[in-house]
Amino acid sequence: MSLLDFKSNQFQKKLKSKQQLVDKALHFFLKKQDYVPVKLHRSMEYSIFSGGKRLRPILCLAVAETIQLQESIALRLACALELIHTYSLIHDDLPALDDDDFRRGRRTNHVVFGEALAILSGDALLTLAFQILADYKHYPSAYQKNIPAILYELAKQAGYTGMVGGQVEDILSEHVKPSFQKVINIHRGKTGALFLASVRIPAILKGKTSPILKSLTLFGEKSGLAFQIIDDILNEVGNVKIIGKKTGSDLKKGKLTFPKVIGIERSREKVKQLTQEAIQALEPLGEKTAFLKTLALYMANRSF
Ligand code: IPE
Ligand code: IPE
Ligand code: MG
Ligand code: MG
Repeated sequence: MSLLDFKSNQFQKKLKSKQQLVDKALHFFLKKQDYVPVKLHRSMEYSIFSGGKRLRPILCLAVAETIQLQESIALRLACALELIHTYSLIHDDLPALDDDDFRRGRRTNHVVFGEALAILSGDALLTLAFQILADYKHYPSAYQKNIPAILYELAKQAGYTGMVGGQVEDILSEHVKPSFQKVINIHRGKTGALFLASVRIPAILKGKTSPILKSLTLFGEKSGLAFQIIDDILNEVGNVKIIGKKTGSDLKKGKLTFPKVIGIERSREKVKQLTQEAIQALEPLGEKTAFLKTLALYMANRSF
């Protein structure tokens, strides 16, 4: 099956069905437990089910398809990624960080539930992700030995050597002199790291090593960087109704973004180049990469 047209019905249908699968699984993992405070549960649900694109989980499922890891197993990983991503958004919007009051087309978590709940529901989403991943009895026995390795990978990419580190660099780089190397570092950390985890953990669970892991790593690095460059572009020229968050905020906060360093047009060129390189990196993986490649094209052409 060749899907490379991201506008085709075939691709769009498949994307939609993966989004629905992820949503269904997230509902399962976020079921209200009797002993959990209602307000905490509501706050977590509010942000998880607010219309996120689910791209990290879908990347994970697309890799699973490529390496023939069962979808039911990959869904556990996919949900963990979305929980971590959503926690990062709740915290990113807090007054102490980007101070945003609009996200995924609705008021941000702290505006609705207050800062304390936003901090704590973010913490709860982050830890729930690791709880779900570590629940070894739900994995086929052949994969259980690889669970520590996926926990390690996700912690590394989400934590101080990955996303959190990037977030700190991002806030410390407000109003500094534009620097190409610095913006690359920020984007690699705050966004690229979780993209890397999304494509690497299904392969690590399946026991894949180099060269497959190397190809996926390159794909994750290139497509993750491209993704954040588009986020930067959309913050300048996007449509608020379509992206579901406010525009112009990066400029206002003096954020170090790609357009600030190389301009909008060259940023768009960079996205194209990185996407081609990401797709090329998948060549050694053979035939079953059509969905993953098309996903990269779809992300590169997004206006949402
Ligand atoms: C937004 O990510 C934050 C970034 C790291 C760029 P997404 O654009 O994937 O946000 P949602 O999940 O669809 O809301
Ligand atoms: C968000 O980066 C990155 C994380 C939440 C880890 P931005 O601050 O640039 O993303 P938006 O534009 O608020 O979604
Ligand atoms: Mg931010
Ligand atoms: Mg932000």
